[in-house]
Parts: sequence; C-alpha cells; structure tokens
Amino acid sequence: MVNLDRRTVLAAIGRPAIVVGFSLVGSLAAHFSPAEASRPITWAEADQRAAKIVDAMTLEEQIQLLRPLAATSFQFAPGANTFPETMRKPSPPGAIGSAGFVPALPRVNFPALQESDGPLGVANMKAWIRGIEDQATALPASIAWAASFDPSLAERAGAVIGSEAHAKGFNVMLSGAVNLAREPRNGRTFEYAGEDPLLAGTIIGANIAGIQSRNVVSTIKHFALNDQESGRGVLDARISEAGARESDLLAFEIAIARGQPGSVMCSYNKANGDHSCQNDWLLNQVLKRDWGYRGWVMSDWGGVHDMRKAVMGGLDQHSPQGKDYFAGLADAVARNEIPKARVRDMAFRIVRSMIAVGALDNPAKAGGAIDREANMAVAQAQAEAGAVLLKNDGLLPLEANKTVVIVGGYADTGVVVGGGGSMVNPYGGIVHQDGAIGMAALGKLSFVPSSPLAALRALRPDTDIRFDDGKDPARAAKAAREADVAIVFALKQATENFDVADLSLPNDQDALIAAVAAANPRTAVVLETGNPIVMPWLNSVKAVLQAWYPGQRGGEAIANLLTGKVSPSGRLPITFPISVDQLPRPKLDGFDPNATLFSPPPAPFTVDYHEGSDVGYRWFQRTKAEPLFPFGFGLSYTQFQHSKLRVEGGKQLKVSFTVTNVGKRAGVDVPQLYVAPPGRTHRLAGWERIELKPGESRRVTISADPKILASYENNGWRRAEGVYDVRVSPSANLSGLHGSARLSEANNSTSR
Ligand code: BGC
Repeated sequence: MVNLDRRTVLAAIGRPAIVVGFSLVGSLAAHFSPAEASRPITWAEADQRAAKIVDAMTLEEQIQLLRPLAATSFQFAPGANTFPETMRKPSPPGAIGSAGFVPALPRVNFPALQESDGPLGVANMKAWIRGIEDQATALPASIAWAASFDPSLAERAGAVIGSEAHAKGFNVMLSGAVNLAREPRNGRTFEYAGEDPLLAGTIIGANIAGIQSRNVVSTIKHFALNDQESGRGVLDARISEAGARESDLLAFEIAIARGQPGSVMCSYNKANGDHSCQNDWLLNQVLKRDWGYRGWVMSDWGGVHDMRKAVMGGLDQHSPQGKDYFAGLADAVARNEIPKARVRDMAFRIVRSMIAVGALDNPAKAGGAIDREANMAVAQAQAEAGAVLLKNDGLLPLEANKTVVIVGGYADTGVVVGGGGSMVNPYGGIVHQDGAIGMAALGKLSFVPSSPLAALRALRPDTDIRFDDGKDPARAAKAAREADVAIVFALKQATENFDVADLSLPNDQDALIAAVAAANPRTAVVLETGNPIVMPWLNSVKAVLQAWYPGQRGGEAIANLLTGKVSPSGRLPITFPISVDQLPRPKLDGFDPNATLFSPPPAPFTVDYHEGSDVGYRWFQRTKAEPLFPFGFGLSYTQFQHSKLRVEGGKQLKVSFTVTNVGKRAGVDVPQLYVAPPGRTHRLAGWERIELKPGESRRVTISADPKILASYENNGWRRAEGVYDVRVSPSANLSGLHGSARLSEANNSTSR
C-alpha cells in the first residue's frame, strides 16, 4: 500500500499529461447585504475576548489548537482504478473534511477549526474525490485577477470564496497566495498574482479582505521566497535583505496591511539558511516585529523540521502531514525548554484572529445558502476583466455571419484548470481529458465544463461555427482553409509540485498553430496557460488572446471577448520573455524533467537570487533586454492617448494626465505610473483602471505609493532626496509620457 496525503493525491490528479480588514467596502456591500456578515470587530476588543478564552484553557487545550489533525487522508494500492470511499481514511470525528481540523473546545466555547484549501475557490478534497458532491465556484486563476488590475474585483472574488466556505462550514481558508513570479517557470504561477509587489500585494490584499468579510479567516501564503516548485522542500533561497524587502516580502507586506489576514502560512523552502517555518528572521523579525503582525503563523503541510527551532522561530501552528514535531510540546514545556508564555501566545494568536474576523460571532455552518448564479457571475466578470489581448491586426472582434472553425484545446469540452491543491470541484463537476475518471484521470488534463465552442455557438446562432479537435494538423489546416476565420485554442496545464520545463506550448501545439495559420491568414489564437508562453508563430497569426485558466464561466467569458460583447481590458501581470535565456537564471535550479510525485527530494541546493528586487520587468530594464510582451501590456478594441502630464514632487509624488479614447468603441484603459529613484530601475508606483466612451477624455491623478519610492537601507525604508524619473506608460516598456520630479528625503515610509 502507498500512503498518500490529500495534497499528494490532488497534485497527482492535476499532473498534466502534456507537460512533460474586516470592513465591508463599496463593491462588497453592493454584492451582499451587510446583515450577512457580523459587525466589524476592533483588535482591542478581539484582544480582550481572546485573553479570556485562552486564559480559561488548560495547557493541553492550548496545545490542541496548535496541532491540527489531517481532515482527510487516503490510502490506496498502486494500480487501483477508482477512488472508492473505503480507500479514504475516516476523517476525525467532527471534521467536515478537506485540509486541517482542530476539534472544538466546548468547555471554553471555542469552535472547531475547519480548514479548506484555496486560493481559487473552496477546494474541498474530500468532495472532489467523491466526484460530485460539494461543488464550489471555480474562480479564474489568480494571475487573471492580477491581470485585471482591479482590486475591487479581487475583493468580490474573495467574498465568493468566503461566503461559500462559510456556507459549507469552513472557517479557515488556505487562501491568499502572493509569491512573486520571480521564476516564470514556477508551476504555481497561476495561483499567484504576477511579478510586481505593488500589483500582487494590492490584488491579494483585496482578495483577503473579501474572504474575511464573510467571517472566515484567510491565510496568506507561502511566506516566503517559495518562488519555484522544483526542490521546494530542500532549496535555500539566497537573497540580500534589501532585495527581499523590496520584492517578495513587499508583496506580503502590502497584502497583509491591506487585507489583515488572520493567518500566514510559512513555506517549504529555506530562506537565507533556515526553513521558513523555523526562520527567526522571517517570522519573528520581519513579520511579527517589523510589520506588527498579530495573527498566527501556520506551517505548510510538512514544513516543520524541528520543534524548538520552529516554536522559538515564530511558528504558531504545526499543520498535519509527516512527522508531528509538536507531539513533544507538552513535555518540552514541562522541562522548561519551551516557555509556557510562548505556548499561550501561540494559542492566543489563533483565538484572536478567529474572533477578529467574526468567526465566533457568526459561525460557519454546513448547509448554508449559496447564490451560485451570483458567484458564477463574479467568476465570469473576473475572467473577462483578466483576459489580455496581446495582438490584434483587425481580426477581432469577430464579424457576424462568417464561417468560423474552432481548432483544438478541447474547446468543445471546457476550459483547462491548474493542478494541485488549488483545484476546485466546479459546479457541473470537473471533466478529465478523454472522459477519464478515478485513477485513470491521473496525469490527464482537467477541465471546468464551460465550453468556449458551445458559448460561441449560443452567442452567434446564425454563424456556421465548426470544430476540429486539432489532433491531426493536416485535417485542421483543411478545415481552416474552408472557413473565413480559424481560432486555435492552445493549452498548457501547470500544477503544484512541478515547474514547467520551459515556456513553450506542449504537445506540438506550435506546429498545429503554424499549420492552421499557413492555411488561413485570418487565424486567431486563444491561450489557456498559467505561465508566459513563447510564440514562434506570432507573425503568422492575426490575433492572440491570453485567457489564463478562466474558471467556472471561462467559455462564456472567452466567447464574449472574441465577439466584442465585452471589450478586452486585461494587462499582463508578468513579462513574457522571448526566451528563457533572458531570465536571471536561464537554467532552472533543481529542475528534474523526470520527477514524479514519488521521486525522493533532490539533495539540498541553493538558489541565488542575485537580481535582488529587480524581478521581472525590472530585470529586463536592467539588462536592456526586449521581451516578447512587456509587463503591463494589453490591447483593447479601441485606442487611448495620454497627454498633458503634470508632475508634482516635494514631499509626495503626484502625477496627473489626460486619457482620451481616440478609437471607435468604448473600452477600458489602464495607464500605469512607473518611477525610478535615482540610480535604480523603474517600479510600478500606481495605476488607474478607467472606462471611456469613444471620444471621451478624463483627467487622472495618481499618487505614488510611498513604499514604492523608498528603498530598504540600513534596517529601514529610506526615500533618498533627488530627482526621480517619472513615466506614464501603457506598459513597462516605458513608452508614453515622460517627466521627473525632485523629492525630499523621507524615512520609514509606511505601506498603504
Ligand atoms: C500547499 C499549500 C496548501 C497545503 C494544504 C501544501 O502542499 O503548498 O498551498 O494549502 O498543501 O493542502
């Protein structure tokens, strides 16, 4: 028998075959009536109430909170062909299932902790394995949330997650993933929010606030520098203090300040020598001391390696999986090796966060009402706002009454989803490549049953829309020749546990696109990928739409975008390189193309983040390299002009300019403010998302985020006095308006 934990099983299912604050803000208030969430609670009130509860607990009860049990685990024989219920080990009494579980402490009136995975919806493994029960809204991949540059949408997505979790009885979501896309081949890039700390932190912070507005704790993860999957449990990420504070840590800092998550999940990797879950620098100094973080730190599953080091290094809760290093905690306290006060602090942090989000006052209960339609509409809005039009030589939006052939990408089946612990069992049930079920689904592609083909046909009943599965390029080319327009759907499914070997489309899809484009010059490509893609066929196609993994209503969203019912408005949250040779590390350290879930971990190795905070587009600037598509880039069906730049310096940098829609259609522009401190690369310091009618103009003012203007020096943030280069640009290529401002010196700037 092989013993697999739930995480391993999920990751296996998603293994692609072909890769070889607690307040309601405007948007939420509109979506949910305030009565659905309990009233906001201040930290001071939470402190007082938590102290009463924790001080009434015995030491054993406090320790119980620190050692969640596995809520679901499995045991099956290799070669088994189904996931029968008998193979699932029984969940502990009282557990709903899914990730971790702490039994209730009725004596002190403290509820059970019921944890479920995210971050793309309520990913309940137990239900997933059974196949049909307990489905949830599958949100688009969070890289698409970032691509929308729209925090209010990310917040609404959070409210969907929080409200569904609450209605299923979960009160802790493992949701809010903000690792920076420092390595674009990272297999979890789709679960994160891109390469820029301000964008990623703002989007994920808003998402966390949305989750917690439904009285459910959000867990920001994976803290920190967990920027690749290869060797994630053994690698040591080496980076300078300033480099880390201005990049990966800044994304967390901004998201935590904005969303105030009740919990932080430390990561598998080492950071500058120590495993993150027992890393005094990361947990005690940066998170708890410098950022004043008051919630609890939970380990990633299997992320603990030493009890004393972890407890004294700042870890508060040991998640289940593998050896239970906290088993000896009571004895260690008895021997005075661990202070009692530290155990109280660990328990206190958990209780306080639960109180602060309202999880005690408005307890999550299974069987609550879920407004599926409203939630799926949020997923669709997010997919539409996050899709990025990368090229369009007049082909899109599709004209009516043309013969269209859709090629490949299982566009008749649905839209692809990323693999691993984030995979949600969507409404309608997950569908596997070629109808595979149970164990046979291992290694197959997985889809949300939202077919772009069906959605296009529904939108355009008068158009002849044909389908070719793309398995035979010659046949697909013939079908393309016989149609007015060809649209090739190209997929790449990434998954937790594995990085992608390169940035190419797998399974000869490049050749398929080339064959179709050669047969019909009016060819568009729709990409469903979680990572940047290189496009050897780019010059021979007329249009490219990056749809990411678009989730529950992805098919409808893509159809709306292709037909112009909705105008594309996403912008790239990550640079698309021409080749991996342009990256700081052309060779991905620790990558093993033959790795499987059963491979032993590689020998420990270090990854040298010598680029410091010059991540993504900043690295391209530093090396003066031209990417395929820059960060921030995206077209719409209209054109915009920026003019009349005004820059105000002094104590604060304020920039204003006029945006005009000079095209023929309504559309959304995302003008971006980039600022370079003296001698440094340009950083995204703000943006605006504005919708304009044809001919309409608007004056936009952006105040640069103070933390972005400052640099980390000598243990603090300092904004040097000097001249700052200022650009208002449609992307990180810095074309557009150019100005500068003299700024005064400022120390210890705070995040917003
Ligand atoms: C993943 C986390 C996840 C946890 C629980 C880990 O392997 O890295 O993102 O929340 O498992 O499923």
